[in-house]
Amino acid sequence: MKLKGKVALITGSTRGIGREFAIGFAKEGADVIINGRNLEKAKAVAEEVKSIGVKSIAIGADVSLSQDVTRMVEEAIQSLGRIDLLVNNAGVNPFILEAEKIKEEGWDQVIDVNLKGVFLCCQAVGKKMIEQGGGKIINISSVVGFLGEQGFLPYSVSKAGVMMLTRVLAYEWSKYHVTVNAIAPGFIAGGMNTPILNKEILVSGLTQQVPLKRLGKPEEIVKIALFLASEDSSYINGTTIVADGGLTGYRPVGFIDLIAEMMKRG
Ligand SMILES: NC(=O)c1ccc[n+]([C@@H]2O[C@H](COP(=O)([O-])OP(=O)(O)OC[C@H]3O[C@@H](n4cnc5c(N)ncnc54)[C@H](OP(=O)(O)O)[C@@H]3O)[C@@H](O)[C@H]2O)c1
Repeated sequence: MKLKGKVALITGSTRGIGREFAIGFAKEGADVIINGRNLEKAKAVAEEVKSIGVKSIAIGADVSLSQDVTRMVEEAIQSLGRIDLLVNNAGVNPFILEAEKIKEEGWDQVIDVNLKGVFLCCQAVGKKMIEQGGGKIINISSVVGFLGEQGFLPYSVSKAGVMMLTRVLAYEWSKYHVTVNAIAPGFIAGGMNTPILNKEILVSGLTQQVPLKRLGKPEEIVKIALFLASEDSSYINGTTIVADGGLTGYRPVGFIDLIAEMMKRG
């Protein structure tokens, strides 16, 4: 029960990895605020979380709208008294398009939710954490924020931005005992990837690139978030933990392969 007595706000927790964070945090004793734009789905997850034996409330709010974020934070504090942990998980990746085909609204949609939304939630919750004397913020980035991905320009840019936002906020808020870290998951078998999990060619194409030769599991990301949310990570600040099965370090051909090829040719 590493999070007993803590209150966690997890954005985008109505499904996917966010829902797994909510359940994982509750199992460690945290009271959890469930958020998504869809209030009914948020209520259903809050009921599930309550059945674990902690408090939970559902708040429908769009993280890209400052008035929604302000209301969400006020409602959360009114109901549960404080926010100790913030997981900025809400994210969208609604299209695969080459740069020349992206419309302005498409660019705005992705950047507004994935980057501006993280800033708005950090700012609104961060102010409360500063008043409270501390807190822990965990931002969900992606390996795509390091590597970039063709067809995912705004998504890649937004996730790179989340890592820099994490670093600068950590510098600024260390003096208030607010730590800010990020997680960059690789290809995870769940959440927004669910529709492609039965597409053999896509899954094998993706896993081939991963040195561990498999997709990640949502629970493998939850464990990292629990670590960053607990006192076990008390000296970690401003960093991004990558969980990608080795993908970011992968090169299709390395020195050892070239030497082997050279020896083969004589
Ligand atoms: N799955 C992966 O392989 C993977 C890999 C790397 C990083 N990530 C990141 O992990 C996070 C979770 O992804 P996921 O795969 O679990 O996605 P998902 O299944 O599509 O879930 C996204 C969640 O965000 C919420 N959401 C979307 N827009 C929102 C908004 N404007 N305001 C508030 N909530 C919003 C959704 O609820 P509503 O629709 O009800 O709003 C939903 O609960 C994202 O940041 C994603 O970029 C995922």
